[in-house]
Amino acid sequence: MTRDAGVSQAVILVGGQGTRMRPLTDTLPKPMLSLMGLPFVERQVDHLQRAGVRRIVFSCGYRPREIEEYFGDGTSRGLEMGYVVDPEPLGTAGAIANAEDLLDDADVFVLNGDILTDLDLAALADHHRGLGAEATIALTPVDDPSAFGLVRTDADGRVTEFVEKPGADELIPGEPYRINAGTYVLTPGARAAIPRGEQVSIERDTFPLLAARGGVGALASDCYWRDIGTPASYLDAHLDVLAGDVGFIDSPGQAWVAPDARVDAAAAIDAGACVGPGAAIGPGARVGSCVIGAGASIGADAVVEGSVIGRDVTVGDGARVSDLVVVGDGAAIAPGAVITGPTSVATGATVPAA
Ligand code: GTP
Repeated sequence: MTRDAGVSQAVILVGGQGTRMRPLTDTLPKPMLSLMGLPFVERQVDHLQRAGVRRIVFSCGYRPREIEEYFGDGTSRGLEMGYVVDPEPLGTAGAIANAEDLLDDADVFVLNGDILTDLDLAALADHHRGLGAEATIALTPVDDPSAFGLVRTDADGRVTEFVEKPGADELIPGEPYRINAGTYVLTPGARAAIPRGEQVSIERDTFPLLAARGGVGALASDCYWRDIGTPASYLDAHLDVLAGDVGFIDSPGQAWVAPDARVDAAAAIDAGACVGPGAAIGPGARVGSCVIGAGASIGADAVVEGSVIGRDVTVGDGARVSDLVVVGDGAAIAPGAVITGPTSVATGATVPAA
């Protein structure tokens, strides 16, 4: 049972271009990509609501309409939902400042819209209040921090240093590598430190500024955490859910097939497969650890393995798609074609047989 965090409002950052997730993000903003039949960001909305949040502001930029049309004003969920749109990309802090007019003068949770986690939001808020911090960041451990922002803290859990994409010479042997997990609590005072209408990064600009005056707390945990920034991590997020590493599904250890998907009795669906709503899998087809998008059609005797297939894609009879091929929405792969990744097929493209 999730505890009430005592923070009633949240901003979800959903305005990024999602360039690393192309071509899937040609047609949808990254937070709206599906995870077991529901938009990814819907999992975050549920997580916030269970922790007592009542108002959620989506800070949008790229393709805002898909998000607003899906969630509306939130009434049907018992939430207040609002939207702001960057006039031009404002960066992660600029996008928070842009939401200020829809927020109360109280603490707010901020979530990157591309993180799957079962983080204890109440524990984060408790730590924040206990320290009297202006901003408190959730931290997650990684083996290799070189692609992330390493966060160092003192024994009380106050941030002492941020090291963006540290080189080997900046790492201290034996230190725990902890990175910003893309979930924060911010006071009104922390938000006031962000200049409005400018491009500002919370990681590179605002947090270092607040940390220099001792105002940033951090709480490390080893809860489940994954960012879905790349096709490989998007695929892995599905495998984690199937394995039962993070909530959502009743029967871990087996494939997830949407109730209205049509799977031929003579098709083989591996335990790591997710077959989206309205998809069809033909006789003799084999679907390995894959994400099959809504309305996609996998032909007879086709093999799809370790790949992400977009919405309404057609994979022809006997075709073979494997090793991290990302197929954009509406693409058609001819019968007998062989595509081996890592590679991608553009949205709406046609791939002939060799
Ligand atoms: P890449 O282009 O692949 O790096 O993805 P991205 O654009 O989503 O960037 P990144 O993964 O760093 O963003 C983290 C979160 O912040 C995502 O949920 C983005 O939607 C969001 N975000 C990033 N930049 C902006 C911005 O300028 N404005 C708004 N509103 N949100 C942003």
